[in-house]
Amino acid sequence: MLALAGGMWRFLVPRKARREALLRVPKAELPANGALVYRESRIALVHEGGDIIALSLVCPHLGCTVSVTPTGMICPCHGSRFNRKGELLSGPATEPLAILALESDGEYLVVTGRSRAGSV
Ligand code: FES
Repeated sequence: MLALAGGMWRFLVPRKARREALLRVPKAELPANGALVYRESRIALVHEGGDIIALSLVCPHLGCTVSVTPTGMICPCHGSRFNRKGELLSGPATEPLAILALESDGEYLVVTGRSRAGSV
């Protein structure tokens, strides 16, 4: 009887929404005041001034993959430029790079999706 009640409880209580990880990276791999670029995922993890942010490298202009350089980020398609926080420096893009939700899970950083804030 208890097993039956437990089985039914599973369907009566909504499951906690679990967002799928887009990227999972050991914290130790991220250099201080540096960045890690995952071109296949089109995500950059940027560590600067004690903050860590996850940036989408999908250009908000027409969707090309933005390149990360030591001084900032530039889109190879039409030349939009962004600083290391993803803020727009020059167009033709009219929006900054998207900041992705970033969570800390023990020894790992987990990128889970689009967000407004997003630093760890
Ligand atoms: S797609 Fe990036 S500037 Fe056009």
